[in-house]
Amino acid sequence: MNNSDASAMSWDEWDEANDPRPEVTEFDRVVEASLSRRGFLSGLVAFGSGAAALGTGLLNGTSAQAQDAARFAFKPVPISTDGTVHVPEGYTWQSMVSWGDALFSDAEPFDPENGVTHTSATRVFGENTDGMELFLVGNRQIIAVNHEYTNNKVNLPDTHVEGKAGSAQDAQLLRNLQGVAVIEVAEGEDGWAVVVDSPYNRRITQDTVINLTGPAAGSDLLKTVSDPQGMTARGTMNNCGAGKTPWGTYLTCEENFNGYFGSTDETLERTPEQMRYGVGLTGRYGYENFEERFDISKDPNEPNTQGWVVEIDPTDPESVPNKRTALGRFKHENAACAIAPDGRVAVYMGDDERGEFLYKYVSDDVYVPGGDTSTLLDNGTLYVAKFLENGSGQWLPLTPETTDMAMDEILVFARIAASKVGATTMDRPEWVAVSPNEVAAYCALTNNKNRGIKTNAGGDETPVGGPNPRAENRYGQIVRWYPANEDHTDPAFTWDLYVMAGNPEKHDDVYSGSRNVTAGNMFNSPDGMAIDSTGLIWIQTDGDFSNEGDFEGMGNNQMLAGDPATGEIQRFMTGPYGSEVTGLCWSADKRTMFVGIQHPDAGFPGEGLPRSTIVAIKRNDNALVG
Ligand code: FEO
Ligand code: CA
Ligand code: CA
Ligand code: CA
Repeated sequence: MNNSDASAMSWDEWDEANDPRPEVTEFDRVVEASLSRRGFLSGLVAFGSGAAALGTGLLNGTSAQAQDAARFAFKPVPISTDGTVHVPEGYTWQSMVSWGDALFSDAEPFDPENGVTHTSATRVFGENTDGMELFLVGNRQIIAVNHEYTNNKVNLPDTHVEGKAGSAQDAQLLRNLQGVAVIEVAEGEDGWAVVVDSPYNRRITQDTVINLTGPAAGSDLLKTVSDPQGMTARGTMNNCGAGKTPWGTYLTCEENFNGYFGSTDETLERTPEQMRYGVGLTGRYGYENFEERFDISKDPNEPNTQGWVVEIDPTDPESVPNKRTALGRFKHENAACAIAPDGRVAVYMGDDERGEFLYKYVSDDVYVPGGDTSTLLDNGTLYVAKFLENGSGQWLPLTPETTDMAMDEILVFARIAASKVGATTMDRPEWVAVSPNEVAAYCALTNNKNRGIKTNAGGDETPVGGPNPRAENRYGQIVRWYPANEDHTDPAFTWDLYVMAGNPEKHDDVYSGSRNVTAGNMFNSPDGMAIDSTGLIWIQTDGDFSNEGDFEGMGNNQMLAGDPATGEIQRFMTGPYGSEVTGLCWSADKRTMFVGIQHPDAGFPGEGLPRSTIVAIKRNDNALVG
């Protein structure tokens, strides 16, 4: 790769530069097809009976602010372009915990100029906060939260070498600041804070030993130098979104794990499987220069131990986490659980890469409250979604019969299995959110500039259509599906689009967005999502924050709330310049909302190095916020 500043690239830009895909020549055809869908699209975003009352104002592009009284308890905020957080009138926010804050009193204080010391890196809050969930142990509130990756120039301000670790000690520091944190939090006179030295506080890093469980455990594909039996992995990597099981464990999802591996043998021929997963010869961190397990010329199966969903018991700091191989290996965004009427468990999961797929796991056994849950995520069937133009769809099972692959191969190389059954290539599936109030689920399809232009990494075409209706999609959309028979384990579903993001000030075609997108609420690149107990959909963005060109009028990344019934969407919060807003959970009493601010620019939350931070948001009257 010849880009001189790989550390500044987004994960998808980096993948693209490492593995450029051939251009196909049908550009004109797909643009034409997209535009001819305009009539179809205006009907595609279908809402319930409330839509009629809402329609006129939205279609005219006027602000939705006049209509906020009924469904939204807040007055929407305008876009921002500055370096701080903004919340509606009547709400306040505070920083709760930032990168480098002590979880244990033996940690050295954070140094605003130099960051975290090598000796304290496992004793503090890691970098780049992402997915999180709250758990209760008696009255104690425990948050499990991901530390997705490290900004190496921020962590190693004086010693990084072109954005990578230049020594084994620095590589260790980076590994220790990623993974997962489990923190006890409490609200005191000065607001929310971590309970330093709580017995529940814990860091799980890129070196923590983790069990491999399920059908692929012990497979030849998972046998490594460190574990020739293939029953354990070292560490969890690029933990992006998250999930919570009905039985109170945390699911952390390994996304862009490929970027941690490289090869000291520059002539190594990569396997087709390594290429499908973007495992390359040059890692983003320099780890391969210091530790053989990150060197695919020395330990070729080590990357196969990453890319899983990991189940963690946040209530037991001694528990060993489990990588659940039955849920498949890909670039996992999050994991959203649902219980079927018969008690079986469904887990929805997106694979966040251009043209990759949307998956569902269904357990063989039923969940019984208080019963044994230890193998519910080990014995089951993995499915992948196929969306049809007529608004229906099917979950296609990935089995030896449907794929002509062995079960361990299906799980370790789930992308390849999914390609074989003809799954629908998607516009980068990010978070899935399951509604608590109706049998429905939503997935944020963040964007896909290659839609209709290039194949995915497996050579599958990415035609314009279905839930991915726009060529060169830079704005993103949210697809929603309703399982047949009101059963999340049913293989059939119907679908529609909840919203297509766009810019109605810049475009009058499909890129203006669906009718619930207005000049007053526009955004791009939906990513994080959660549905609160009242049924509102919270949408977090990780997109273009330039506020220029196609993105003019959108400002910094933000969090919005949507009404599932009417489609109405209003902006609740804006993040500081440079950041994405990612990760959302609520306090036990639902009077505080915890929101993650990842990779802000310098100046947030204070002077010195920029620090990713969880903020706590409350109403001034202490009323419910979710
Ligand atoms: Fe880590 Fe797909 O976001
Ligand atoms: Ca994300
Ligand atoms: Ca994203
Ligand atoms: Ca991200």
